[in-house]
Amino acid sequence: MSNRKQSKGLLVTFEGIDGCGKSTHLKLSREYLTSLGLKVVSLREPGSTPVAEKIRRILLDKCSSISDTAELLLYEAARAEIVGHEIEPLMASGHIVLCDRFYDSTTAYQGYGRGLDLRVIRKLHRLAVGECRPNLTLLFDVTLRVAASRLGQSRDRLESQPMAFHRRVRKGFLEIAARESRRVKVIDASRPVEVVFEDVRRYLKRRVAKL
Ligand SMILES: Nc1ncnc2c1ncn2[C@@H]1O[C@H](COP(=O)(O)OP(=O)(O)O)[C@@H](O)[C@H]1O
Ligand SMILES: [Mg+2]
Repeated sequence: MSNRKQSKGLLVTFEGIDGCGKSTHLKLSREYLTSLGLKVVSLREPGSTPVAEKIRRILLDKCSSISDTAELLLYEAARAEIVGHEIEPLMASGHIVLCDRFYDSTTAYQGYGRGLDLRVIRKLHRLAVGECRPNLTLLFDVTLRVAASRLGQSRDRLESQPMAFHRRVRKGFLEIAARESRRVKVIDASRPVEVVFEDVRRYLKRRVAKL
């Protein structure tokens, strides 16, 4: 494991099933934190570096059939790229990094969803991220019904999985939150955006106050 410096910035990750409101609240969070005079950058996973964006295209391609293990490794490969090339340097220069999905998504989708070994997955996270762990994770929880009603027609490879898969993924996210309740905050995202964002703002405010 590489010896990584203590970071000055913050890593805040946005998690939950598709349609839960991650992108909506990431944008609102960026605006809010910027208005406080903080240096904020938003990134998305998988992606945000040239190599990771290429991996993203493979992963989200409707037509490609990928084995579960290869899929897991591609997500971790993309993650190692974003951590080394983006997140760590940004945090070292005092930025607040907001990331649309991070390793909890892999635990939820590849672990709980596909049924791959959770212990192996946690070891791979460690290999990919080293000590670069989220300081705060906001889990936007909605039922599958609410999520589906918010999603449009366009379905990528993952979104077109059966309902049972998404049900396991949602349950997986909630189990992660129960295991790591200090880091992962569950937010009822079925309420109107402004009401949900009141919770988001409270968690962000509390966390940045400790900087
Ligand atoms: N609390 C909410 N109530 C109603 N609609 C919402 C809410 N949050 C998000 N949406 C809408 O649902 C859709 C999916 O939201 P989005 O933020 O893109 O979710 P995600 O990034 O998690 O897939 C968008 O059209 C968004 O405007
Ligand atoms: Mg989104």
